[in-house]
Amino acid sequence: MALQFTPPADPVFTPDDEIAAINADPGFGEHFCDHMAIAHWNPDQGWHDAALVPYGPLPLSAGGAVYHYAQEIFEGLKAYRHADGSIWCFRPEANAARFASSATRMALPPLPVEDFVEGVRALVELDARWVPGGDEQSLYLRPFMIADEEYIGVRATRQATFAVIGTPVGVYFKGGVAPVDIWVCTDAGRVAPGGTGMAKCGGNYAASLLSQEIAHQHGCSQVLFTDAATHTWIEELGGMNFVCITAAGELVTPSLNGDILAGITRDSILKAAPRVGLTPVERPLSLEEVRTGITSGAITEIFACGTAAAIAPIGALLDESGEWRLPSASAGPKTLALREFLLDVQYGRRPDDFGWTQRIC
Ligand code: PLP
Ligand code: COI
Repeated sequence: MALQFTPPADPVFTPDDEIAAINADPGFGEHFCDHMAIAHWNPDQGWHDAALVPYGPLPLSAGGAVYHYAQEIFEGLKAYRHADGSIWCFRPEANAARFASSATRMALPPLPVEDFVEGVRALVELDARWVPGGDEQSLYLRPFMIADEEYIGVRATRQATFAVIGTPVGVYFKGGVAPVDIWVCTDAGRVAPGGTGMAKCGGNYAASLLSQEIAHQHGCSQVLFTDAATHTWIEELGGMNFVCITAAGELVTPSLNGDILAGITRDSILKAAPRVGLTPVERPLSLEEVRTGITSGAITEIFACGTAAAIAPIGALLDESGEWRLPSASAGPKTLALREFLLDVQYGRRPDDFGWTQRIC
């Protein structure tokens, strides 16, 4: 039977003026809404005890498996407030399906799609006052699952907890649509062939953080990873997919090779590309081709895409050997057109003929 996330009898909320003060400038991931959705799993009971509870610590023994073996997965999606005050999510079933496949890869119990969506829906409905209404603001939702069995023998957990927390957010990169510089990592791997690249698991991000720090030291906002074996092929950024636009009118993104996360924004952009006059292409993309293309003008625009940042224009690729900078210091027209298309659908400013948005309340 589908899970019901039972709300507390007397929910306690942060006063509205305090929420308004936070939502005036929420940053990214610094403040959390009042409740969280939670459910537990074990092999005997399956998924059970679903509830909405006050946001706070999860009880977990120091012997909890996740602390030792990183058996953990997560998702990221947003709730958007439309001009009429209604609140909508963008393709939540796609996040739910990816969560289930991440679970399978990490030997965690897959959560049925409808239970994932219901957990998200119930939390957003209860904490709707936390969904900001400002320009490009939203409530970022972070569903996750941890192995919380108290057992440090190495095997798949026999106890897991699913939770959804929410955090009000504004733009991911402080400069808005000003292009960001990206550090290309050619000396370390984030994921390996046959590894966990297709899964959205915490370990992939832990493996990216040192390179991300190095990127920051070089004045770059994010790191772009190449294939771990040869550092020839572009894969993705630490938390976003990579896209180029060519002078020939193609929108090119590396094909899903088993290492790359199947981004839902990436998929949406591939589908929306013809709307802005671009032909979508998924194929292997070498670092050399991109560098040469920037220099020759064959590549006219580059951007990163993901839920957190939507579409973030890229100005230059840097590494130890040099810098490849696009001629324009501002975002390109196709990037901006795609960004506008996507945000207009998400914020209800244009008809959603793809059927991507879902009303929560
Ligand atoms: N790649 C990585 C490594 C990510 O963390 C994300 C963010 O979720 C993405 C790509 C983009 O995925 P999505 O568009 O589903 O948010
Ligand atoms: C997202 O875009 O949802 C991400 O997960 C990227 C980052 C915040 C981890």
